[in-house]
This record gives sequence, structure tokens and C-alpha cells, in this order.
Amino acid sequence: MLANERLTLAIQKRGRLSDGSLNLLQRCGFERRSFDSALFYQAPFLPLDILLVRDDDIPNLIQTTVCDLGIVGENCLQEQENPINPFERVKALGFAKCRLSIALPQEENFTSVDMLKGKIIATSYPTLLQRFLTKNNIQAKIVVISGSVEIAPQLKMADAICDLVSTGKTLAENNLKEVMTILKSQAVLFKSKLPLSKQKQDTLEIILKKWADLS
Ligand code: PRP
Ligand code: ZN
Repeated sequence: MLANERLTLAIQKRGRLSDGSLNLLQRCGFERRSFDSALFYQAPFLPLDILLVRDDDIPNLIQTTVCDLGIVGENCLQEQENPINPFERVKALGFAKCRLSIALPQEENFTSVDMLKGKIIATSYPTLLQRFLTKNNIQAKIVVISGSVEIAPQLKMADAICDLVSTGKTLAENNLKEVMTILKSQAVLFKSKLPLSKQKQDTLEIILKKWADLS
């Protein structure tokens, strides 16, 4: 077997996607305890290699053909996807369900989307937020923060935020309320539009059979 015929899959090293991703790898012959601090693993019985990386880096690893497949949230995928050259979604995986929402300070009275006009909105998702604002004909200022976005209104950095919500606990703890959902998200297995080699495609089919009951 040629060394370059091993299928490569990038998953999130640590975060909301890692637990569900590791569960899927258990179905591919990995034992959970086999994952420690290394960033590269070979499957025991399949020509499959795993890369553990930051989720935000995965779309670029696929685009640059460093890696064949990735698992990220639809939120991360759409934020980085070039609409002219989209990725191929192979399978929705049914875990890490969350939504990208606009939230306001609890004391604000929400009337309509128009109240965002002229406001400052903090987010880690500037592309998705700008697309939503443009679609609704809203001019607002976007401030990009890569984490702990919920703190921005308290610090008077922003009037509103646009961030991921899962249980809603983080919003509540920061005196914020969700007023509009702009994207529903879950983990997704994806690749580039380029076809895989025959051998890699065969490996992918084997994996998909093991994951057949997910949706
Ligand atoms: C997300 C998001 C919120 C939190 C929401 O963070 O940014 O802070 O989860 O979850 P909750 O509604 O259950 O409280 P994530 O774990 O993705 O980390 P990150 O913001 O550092 O990417
Ligand atoms: Zn992240």
C-alpha cells in the first residue's frame, strides 16, 4: 500500500467537538485512552490517520489538501467557506448541536432586527454576522473578538453580541438574552470537492458504514 494512500481526518483537539469526534473514532478501532498529548495517530486496522488540531484551522487544512476530511461545526465551516468554492458535506453527525445567535443585555427591550442599526456588535463570526446584517439591510459596526465574546457588553465594547449558544448558560451568567438565531449548527464531516483516490474513497465508505446510524 502506498504511504500517501492513507486517508487523513482532522478533528478538534479540545472543545465542544472533541468528545463526539473521539466517540466516532472508537468505532474505527481506536481506544479512547490511546489519545494523549500527541497530535497524530494511526488507526489500528484501517488506512486512516487522525490529526488533532484547532477546529478553526481545519477548513484551511482541507482547502490546502494537507488533509482529506475534517469534522467541524457547521458554524466554523460556513464562517470560513468560500461560497464560490464550497466544501462538500459528507455527513451531518448529529452532535455538538448549537446555534449562532444575536444576544442583547437583559434589560434591553427587543423590538425588531432594525434596532441593531448603528449598533456595535461583538462576535467571533464576522462573515456570518455581516451576511445576516446585509440581508436585513442593517448597517452596524462589527467588533471581532476570538473568545469570551459575552463579556463585551459589560466592558462597553459593544451593544450586542453574536455568538454560539448551546445551553444558554453563558448568556444567562453574563446578563444577556438571546433575541435572534442566525444559524443552526451541528458537527459535520466534510471534504473538498476534489474526488478522493479509489483507495481513500474505499476507506471512507468503510468509515461511513460504521457511522451509518448517525444523523
Ligand atoms: C461557546 C460560545 C459560548 C458557549 C455557549 O464557546 O462561545 O461561550 O459555548 O455555550 P452555552 O450556551 O452552553 O453556555 P466554545 O465552547 O465554543 O468556546 P470558544 O468560544 O472559546 O470557541
Ligand atoms: Zn473554536
